[in-house]
Amino acid sequence: GKVAVLMGGTSAEREISLMSGRGVLEALRSQGVDAHAVDPAEQDLWALKAQGYARCFIALHGRHGEDGCVQGALELVGLPYTGSGVMASAIAMDKVMTKRVWIAQGLPTPRYVWLDPEQQRDAARVAEVPAELGLPLIVKPPREGSSIGVTKVSEAGRMAAAVLDSSRYDPDVLCEEFIDGEEVTCPVLGEGSEARALPVVRIQPPEAGYDYQNKYFTDDVRYLCPSGLPADEEARIQRFVLAAYRALGCRGWGRADLMIRASDRQPFLLEMNTSPGMTGHSLVPMSARAAGISYEALCLDILAGARL
Ligand code: DAL
Ligand code: MG
Repeated sequence: GKVAVLMGGTSAEREISLMSGRGVLEALRSQGVDAHAVDPAEQDLWALKAQGYARCFIALHGRHGEDGCVQGALELVGLPYTGSGVMASAIAMDKVMTKRVWIAQGLPTPRYVWLDPEQQRDAARVAEVPAELGLPLIVKPPREGSSIGVTKVSEAGRMAAAVLDSSRYDPDVLCEEFIDGEEVTCPVLGEGSEARALPVVRIQPPEAGYDYQNKYFTDDVRYLCPSGLPADEEARIQRFVLAAYRALGCRGWGRADLMIRASDRQPFLLEMNTSPGMTGHSLVPMSARAAGISYEALCLDILAGARL
């Protein structure tokens, strides 16, 4: 039957989702799948079934696409969809809820302070945060992706501006301990005991950091995959990521982002993406390629996992 590739949407990551969706659409079509682009910002999801769609590939990122809302709508419509269900999507979209789950499971994640709108207006409260988390620290909107609204704060005097910037994207603000080390990411495919971690990707950004611009629109970031990490360290990260995926109840596919502390090589989980980027610069396709899985095969594999 027909496959709807859901792309676009209304989140701050709309532009990225359109790039992911175009890649997925083209790959599925090249494999003979009767796939069509559907933008939930323009089309009524309720009409999909009457239009003959049998399944959805969710290539949406961010709020209303990756956070359980579209997943819930498709549950009601009765159309199988790729990736995690409502609960795992909703938890994973929220970096604070995700931390609570991981902490309850004993999985290391950087220490954090959560500021609601009232606390953000309390200058004394905001000024305390650097003493609690140390400097530098990271300020970010808890329910965004692609580094949108993220600031690395190196001086206490910069806190207020960073909090204000983050609050443009999310009424709540997450302040997080900075882990001095290297950033890695690791995709997972599958569900339950069948889930498997793909090769780890090491991210080596330029001095200026890893941000929205150089994530997608420059070639200034170096990626290592195969990672070149010692085999036992790579295996440890993969075990850890699988535990993090299971703890959230994820299924289908996902990608965990982590920091490895330089001093002792301890991995810290930053977040789980339940609808990761599939653009030409994205890391799930890069990791899959290192595992011998082409972009087309990856799209077919994710689609095969579609369900209600
Ligand atoms: N949020 C972007 C799309 C990613 O994690 O790949
Ligand atoms: Mg993310």
